[in-house]
Amino acid sequence: MSKLTVKDILVEGKRVFVRVDFNVPLSPEGRVLNDTKIRASLPTIRYLLEKGSKLILASHLGRPKGRVVEGLRMKPVAERLSRLLDREVLKSNTVIGEEVEKAVEALKPGDILLLENIRFEAGEEKNDPQLAAALSRLADLYVNDAFGTAHRAHASTNGIARFLPAVAGLLMEKEIVYLSKSKENPPSPLVVILGGKKVADKIGVIRHFLHHADRLLLGGAMANTFLKARGHVMGNSFYEEDKLDVASEILEEAKSNQAKIYLPIDVVITEELRAHSPSKIVKAENIPEGWSAVDIGPETVDTFQKAIRGAKMILWNGPLGAYEFPPFHKGTEMIARTIAATNAESIVGGGDIVAALEELGLSDKITHLSTGGGAVLEFWEGKELPGLTVLQDKSITAD
Ligand code: 3PG
Repeated sequence: MSKLTVKDILVEGKRVFVRVDFNVPLSPEGRVLNDTKIRASLPTIRYLLEKGSKLILASHLGRPKGRVVEGLRMKPVAERLSRLLDREVLKSNTVIGEEVEKAVEALKPGDILLLENIRFEAGEEKNDPQLAAALSRLADLYVNDAFGTAHRAHASTNGIARFLPAVAGLLMEKEIVYLSKSKENPPSPLVVILGGKKVADKIGVIRHFLHHADRLLLGGAMANTFLKARGHVMGNSFYEEDKLDVASEILEEAKSNQAKIYLPIDVVITEELRAHSPSKIVKAENIPEGWSAVDIGPETVDTFQKAIRGAKMILWNGPLGAYEFPPFHKGTEMIARTIAATNAESIVGGGDIVAALEELGLSDKITHLSTGGGAVLEFWEGKELPGLTVLQDKSITAD
């Protein structure tokens, strides 16, 4: 990677502000349901602790939009981190101000302080220079390990780096190394699988891979918009009316480009989206009124499996059905098992699909499970990631 990392600079005894992405799912009672993102930053945290740094960790949790939301406090995250590290994690009830300054002053080498949810501050998402400066005064160095939030230009992911020496954490480095390979020099055949609800988030990525992938497999509710654009009768299925034109354009572009687009041939339909509601399988072009497509059907699974076999690299973002409502998780599961059984290099991004692979016990069969969702899509699309570009380049020597 062309960015300096924590290993390239002197961190011994320094106060280090580490932006992590601990945006983890919580149960209604506030229990951490999946700690993948917390575990992913442990290498950076442990490295800094071993070097005797004083750690100030900051993350967002959910989207509180600049207000204090009791259910989005970092307390359960601090507790989980403490358990994972088997050491005390101090926690402040605010992001900036006297309480935090005193807590930072009292830090000894090897101590960890986790700040309160950074998005409780209205200046965070506005990339307010005053908030960025206040945060920077807490530390001597800035480390960004929050790859999942690297596509956001916020005070703690971007602004703060203008006030402090700024380098990448080890998770950030690992993510960029794997993702760069998938973008810059992917082996062929390259198969890209995209699912999830909305086409809107994926237009740029689809366009990129029309030129760079060999096969592009589309599923999830997103595929409904393409099916509708093809003139299929979609019953009550979710689709984006305002994206029908762009979907038609993409289907047209695909005719003269490298990637062959695969859309569902058959779908699982139901009248009511809830777990175990009655369902049936129909051809994708004729969904009856009152029924909605909620998963890919067996013929589609078979076609997708054939398209995947023989791939040298497989990239995947977004579930192929309503995964959280069994049995509409089946299509996603079958495709996950197919990928796990290949010898292809595989990179999977997006919280829901990564959690699904973990539940299925398949995560160690995937070359790289990314902690990013939107960040992965923007990286593949070729957009600059403001949380990454702001870090020091390797060519610049650190103090
Ligand atoms: C994520 O969960 O994808 C990241 O933490 C970013 O969260 P955001 O979409 O709320 O910025």
